[in-house]
Amino acid sequence: MANHKVICWDCGCDVDDPLVNTCPKCGGLLTVKMDLEPVKEKKPADLQKKPIGVWRYSDFLPVNPANAVSIQEGGTPLYSTKALGKEIGIPDLYVKYEGANPTGSFKDRGMTVGVSHAVELGMKVVGCASTGNTSASLAAYAAKAGLKCAVFLPSGKVAAGKLAQAMFFGAKVLSIDGNFDDALALARKMAEEKKLYLLNSINPYRPEGQKSVLFEIMDQLQYGIPDRIVVPVGNAANIWAVYKALTELEEVGWIDRMPMLTGIQAEGAMPVASAFSKKTDDFIPEKNPETIATAIRIGNPVSGRKALKAIYSTGGYSTSVTDDEILAAQKLLGRREGVGVEPASAASVAGAKKLREMGIIDRDERVVCICTGNALKDPDTIINSCEAPIKCANSVEAVEKILSQ
Ligand code: F0G
Repeated sequence: MANHKVICWDCGCDVDDPLVNTCPKCGGLLTVKMDLEPVKEKKPADLQKKPIGVWRYSDFLPVNPANAVSIQEGGTPLYSTKALGKEIGIPDLYVKYEGANPTGSFKDRGMTVGVSHAVELGMKVVGCASTGNTSASLAAYAAKAGLKCAVFLPSGKVAAGKLAQAMFFGAKVLSIDGNFDDALALARKMAEEKKLYLLNSINPYRPEGQKSVLFEIMDQLQYGIPDRIVVPVGNAANIWAVYKALTELEEVGWIDRMPMLTGIQAEGAMPVASAFSKKTDDFIPEKNPETIATAIRIGNPVSGRKALKAIYSTGGYSTSVTDDEILAAQKLLGRREGVGVEPASAASVAGAKKLREMGIIDRDERVVCICTGNALKDPDTIINSCEAPIKCANSVEAVEKILSQ
């Protein structure tokens, strides 16, 4: 018997058609309701017998692990970042480094579950719109599963590493005239006309895999619950997935309080942060999102309302950071900790620094920043923001002279 059902997040009705991405009755967002009764008999240590990674948590996943299409996703490091923490005034600071996933971003967590489910359904063609990382991940998992794959990318706005991955793994890479929101509208139309199976995070199976980042953080902290988790927000599914994982841990009795979920957006693409500042449950889409953090260059986040629910329900916070703050945080993390992340990921660190300065984050909080993607995803931004290679004659004296400067 299935261990879950799909329901409408808005009206609560059961949704039986596996090919719809919104509620047939009210048009609302969908979500998975897990049957966690069997898990209530267990404790975290029972799961810890399996290797750390997404599939350790199969009791919380709506896919039979025997059907898993896996490239060994998850199991990423949780760094205790003391030097960075000292610098920004949060001594008990951690970075969950999602850049260590197989395709270099957190998307692999959702994609292993989403593509496994697509295979269970017998789908042959999968697709997604993407600012880059989702397409890189889907292309890889589709290759592993032997599925045909089409990815819809905003023309000229996808970082080099991500584009290279989508091309390399053999997807049909479609460059769409418009931004992510436009590309997603087209991908959704294709799905509605049943031309492909959509694997954007509006598909409720995707966030299910993304819950695993929270399960891992809890395991890695030996269930010492952090006070706050800081997440970059774009299309807004990831922060929702973290929240959903927390509600499920609470349901099975493994935690008794929740970290304050804190969503960070880029100043040029901040519909969720704007809604938070007005204390509203819904957001106003932005027409022309713009930021150097192209991964989160999104004006109409599909899961924006779910993100706001996650933030309000945990007593969390949301704010925006400028491109300069993002680049400064990216460099700081690299130069204090040796950890390389892409700009969107650095938004979480930039946000933690800003909120500490504002006094929203207390000095004694235990804070985890989720850093969603690898630095090598976007080499151009790094090359443009760092000192150029130094021209040097082929002699010891020339090198010495440069090192002494
Ligand atoms: N960080 C990175 C590196 C991302 O690629 C994304 C989203 C986010 C953060 C935001 O996560 O959308 O769940 O709020 N990238 C998507 C993509 C939109 O197409 O790769 P979110």
